[in-house]
Amino acid sequence: MLYESRSELPDHVPPSLVVDHDVFTVDAPDGDFAGAMVRLRESDVPALFWTQRNGGHWVATDGEQIRTILVDPERFSSRAMRVPKAANPVPPIIPLMIDPPDHVQYRRLIAPAMTPAKVRKLEGSARALSIGIIEQLEPKGACEFVSEFAQQMPIAIFMGMLDLPASDQPVIMDIVDRIIRPDVPETRMCGFADLVDYTMARVAERRAEPGDDLVSSLAHAKIDGRPLRDDELQGLMFVLLLAGLDTVAAMLTYITCFLAGSSDHRRELQEKPELITEAIEEFLRRMAMVNLTREVNRDTELGGIVLKAGDLIVCPSPLCNFPEDGTDWLAVDFHRPRQVHATFGAGPHYCLGSMLARAEIRIFLEEWLARIPDFAIEEGAQLEVKAGAAVMIPRLPLVWRPRGKTT
Ligand code: HEM
Repeated sequence: MLYESRSELPDHVPPSLVVDHDVFTVDAPDGDFAGAMVRLRESDVPALFWTQRNGGHWVATDGEQIRTILVDPERFSSRAMRVPKAANPVPPIIPLMIDPPDHVQYRRLIAPAMTPAKVRKLEGSARALSIGIIEQLEPKGACEFVSEFAQQMPIAIFMGMLDLPASDQPVIMDIVDRIIRPDVPETRMCGFADLVDYTMARVAERRAEPGDDLVSSLAHAKIDGRPLRDDELQGLMFVLLLAGLDTVAAMLTYITCFLAGSSDHRRELQEKPELITEAIEEFLRRMAMVNLTREVNRDTELGGIVLKAGDLIVCPSPLCNFPEDGTDWLAVDFHRPRQVHATFGAGPHYCLGSMLARAEIRIFLEEWLARIPDFAIEEGAQLEVKAGAAVMIPRLPLVWRPRGKTT
């Protein structure tokens, strides 16, 4: 791996706080990232430790400390969203990588695309697409869930948000495929270049002929009285595709992996559909999967530890959702009182698509369980967990008995 070598230990980091930990190598043969993070915390690592992997950075494992970091953009900047520093996108992804006060000006531009009324409108096409895919898959009795289902719905949502013609779906799917499943790194770069060309061509069209859609409003938006630059437009449109793609796909895959192994939970949701709202919240809490990263803005202290300007801190979001109070938080229980969780982050960058994500999970649970009530992970399948912006199970082969088949 490119950044595998260990960097030198900076002078301000005491050797007692060093742990050999690679955030890109997750020890989760059961496909349970959140469980792996809880195990890491329980393995007696310091609450805040330094790893020399991936350029050298801090890892926060205490839920309270992670929240402190996320809600304090003045001390902890979002200008770096991943480790190592050199791997951060240029130009930045907007508004994710922009700090207050500028951040809110950009956030305001895309928030209107995710109001309850807009989400309801998008739900219709996402539901129709999901039913279509599930009905095609059901008679086959098997599928690779991630590519054949989980990644499809977010693409339909993106297309709906930007009011893109259905005939462009194969083009978008091809670009997305090259970005998320590149054979060589160059394929990914070409995928991004094609995404820039595709989105900027739509901006040019809507500048000439505006409609009632997000691309048109971004094409005509102004910040401080000036129109948006091309790099700003690209950053904003990329976030709409990328923030809602891997995250939703990862969440649907974790949920499916869990349900495949628990007939009791499947049965409960089928017999009591009114539990679905609570189930969505419980799944969101239990299956958190984003490694949030922040850059220290100025020399400061956290829990008695000196942090220097420029240090990066990785904050695994699941660790906010499993308080260390003796409760079995790893168990999935649809009857728990609702818990505050950090699956959608905390502070100024709190996920703008949380309502949309909940709608996508609901559509999946309702439509999949109605048509494929019983399913299992293919025997002998090796599960792995792959860490990118969202940490996900990259392949989930499923099998079930098709309805028409009795033996
Ligand atoms: C289960 C699915 C999802 C999860 C777990 C998730 C998680 C997150 C998290 C943790 C953040 C905060 C990042 C940070 O603080 O650095 C975030 C931000 C964001 N998410 Fe989501 N997300 C999901 C779905 C979506 C969807 C469907 C969209 C819609 C396109 C979306 C759009 C955004 C945007 C635009 C931001 C940036 C907000 C800002 O910087 O102000 N997300 N998401």
